[in-house]
This record gives sequence, structure tokens and C-alpha cells, in this order.
Amino acid sequence: MPRAPAPVLRPDDSTNGPAVETRGLIKRFGETTAVDGVDLRVERGGIYGFLGPNGAGKTTVIRMLATLLRPDGGEAEVLGRDVRTCPAEIRERISLTGQFASLDEDLTGIENLVLLARLQGFGIGAARQRGAELLEAFGLTDAAARQVKKYSGGMRRRLDIAGSLLVTPELIFLDEPTTGIDPRSRNQVWEIIRTLVDAGTTVLLTTQYLEEADRLAGRLAVIDAGRVIAEGTPGQLKAQVGSGALTVRVADPAEREQAARLVGAVLGHDRVTRESDPAALSVLLPERARVSRALAELEDSGVEVESFSVGQPSLDEVFLTLTGGPHAATDEPGDRSGPADRGAPGGRGGPGDRGEPEGRDEVPATEGTR
Ligand SMILES: Nc1ncnc2c1ncn2[C@@H]1O[C@H](COP(=O)(O)OP(=O)(O)OP(=O)(O)O)[C@@H](O)[C@H]1O
Ligand SMILES: [Mg+2]
Repeated sequence: MPRAPAPVLRPDDSTNGPAVETRGLIKRFGETTAVDGVDLRVERGGIYGFLGPNGAGKTTVIRMLATLLRPDGGEAEVLGRDVRTCPAEIRERISLTGQFASLDEDLTGIENLVLLARLQGFGIGAARQRGAELLEAFGLTDAAARQVKKYSGGMRRRLDIAGSLLVTPELIFLDEPTTGIDPRSRNQVWEIIRTLVDAGTTVLLTTQYLEEADRLAGRLAVIDAGRVIAEGTPGQLKAQVGSGALTVRVADPAEREQAARLVGAVLGHDRVTRESDPAALSVLLPERARVSRALAELEDSGVEVESFSVGQPSLDEVFLTLTGGPHAATDEPGDRSGPADRGAPGGRGGPGDRGEPEGRDEVPATEGTR
């Protein structure tokens, strides 16, 4: 279990205002408006989640807040300082762990941390000591002398986060800290994030996982296509979305249509989604109590159910509901009002979308910000 790295806090000379405040924040890349008028207020302390699918604009917002990218419009203040006029002061007090690890693959774990500490002005002895403390705190002592290219994804992620904690920041941005790592490593990263909060750091993290936002964040903003489409506590957002989803897998894919009709008749036809698995369908639940009725209908009609589960709505369902798409929580069958034609969230800007021109207005990273 990781423990909180000993805080090395820099004095806070600013007011007690919010950690982050933006008004109408805009960023364009050529024809693409990546961030389209974002208003945010993140109070100090605790974990604020930024939830959204690929290409939603999460990283772009974070990079503007970390002063790595200049906004094209709107205002943003970080720890009471304007990102345009006070980037150096902001960089002194924040830290950023990017979506993709920024480690030197050929160096060992300890060498990476010592190098980063030296870049931040630590003397050699202090750099070695702090590096060793962080490796210990993150359960990497045994791997200290191993080259990073021989690390697993989870170890890399932990080392990357360790590198942004050489000086305990007042505010840390963690961009998808758990994407692509296994459940055990994910739990370790969650523990690390919680210990940071206990040490007084404000955490702003992005994620594509509803479960992660739900477990960690006290508040969250749901972002889609560059806009905040919902904001509140996880409980408030889930209440908006509905009580969960029923997924049914029939034994014979030929019976899926019949199952969809039967389940739709009980729970609302417009809530039924045919999954890519030809035997599976899922239904956004208007109220949990009707699940047993829907399953009873299937049994009475002789449709053999291989498995079923009732879970939280998926991120897709959250988006479709919040944006008024086909799964919108309405009892009117066939109600397709709202931007229903925009396609599934997964269809928008995947990682492959990103080989585009790097923004001309990139601000070179300095030693103050990792
Ligand atoms: N440097 C860039 N040049 C051109 N377009 C960019 C650049 N960075 C991001 N974009 C575009 O801006 C949009 C938002 O991208 P961003 O990386 O902020 O999304 P994201 O929410 O972080 O997605 P992911 O979950 O995939 O990391 C996408 O359409 C993306 O292709
Ligand atoms: Mg991103």
C-alpha cells in the first residue's frame, strides 16, 4: 500500500479562491474547435473529475490550465493566477502527469527521478534521497535499478506520477492516470491519488471511466465535443442518467430480436440497444424494480437467457442520455429529439485522430512543469 510521500510544500501566497476557474474557455486547432466555451470551477482540496470520451477535449483543457497551450478565447485562472499573464508562477505550483508517460526508457527508475529532481533544482544528494523516498512510497524500490523499458505499464504509470511529486504540488493534473493498466495497478494508482489529497493537494483528473470518476471524484464535469454537458457530484449525475442498465445475453442469437421486443415492451423500446455481440442487448433502466418483470417475460416466452447483469449505465449511455440521444430517459417510444444523429460516442475522435498538425502555438515545456 503506498503511503503519502512526505510533503515538501511551497508557501501559498495566494488567496483561498478556487483552484481552477474558467469562463468560456476556447481552443481551436485549424477547423477543429477542441474546447468550445468551457466554464469550470474547481474548489481547493479533493478530487475533481473530468469525464469524457476520446477526443472530447479533456487533454486540451488540462494543457491550457497547465500553461502548455494558449487559449484562443475565454479566461482561465489557476490558483488565482491568469494562465496568460502568469504562466511561470502557475508552473511553480502545479504538476502535470500527462496522458503518455514522459520517462526516459533507457534510464532506470531512480535515474529518471534523480534527473527530474536535478532539473527542478535539487542538489545531487537531495535528489537521490527524494527519488528513493518516492520509489519506496510507490512500491518501486525493488525496480529502482531496472531500466524503465523493462517496466510494466502499471509500474511506468506509478513512476511517472512519482516524477510529478518531487515537490508536492498544490494542484496536480493527472491525465488518464489509469487508462490501459490492469485492475491491481489501477487500485494502486487510486490509492496514490487519495494519499495526495490527504497531503493537501487538489487533484484534477481526467478519465474515460465512469466508475473511476464515481469512486474518486467529489465532483465531476462531463465533457463532450469540447463542451461541459453536465456538472455535479457523481450521485447527482447518476440520478440524471437513470438507475442503471440491464444487459441480457440470450443462448441463441436468433432469439435476440424476440428478446429485444419483449424487454422493450416492459422497459421502453427506445431504451434497448443491440450490442455488437449478436446474442447481447442492453437496456437503460427507468426504474430497477421492473427488471424482474422483463426477465419473467423472457422466461414465459421461452427465450433462454444465458446470462444477465444489472450495472451502472455505461459511459456511452451517460452521454446519450445527457445529450438527449436515443437512450434519453423518456417514456415516449420513438422520441428521437435532440442530437440523436451524431453517432455513437466511440465514433468520435479516437487516438488515431491525433496525428494532426501539432499546434503552432504550443508553449515549450519548462523545468517547472512536467
Ligand atoms: N495538437 C493538436 N493539433 C490538432 N488537433 C488537436 C491537437 N490536440 C488535440 N486535437 C484535437 O482536439 C480534439 C480534442 O482532443 P483532446 O486530446 O483534448 O481530447 P481528449 O478528451 O483528451 O481525448 P482522449 O480521451 O483520446 O485523450 C480532438 O478532435 C483532437 O483530434
Ligand atoms: Mg486526452
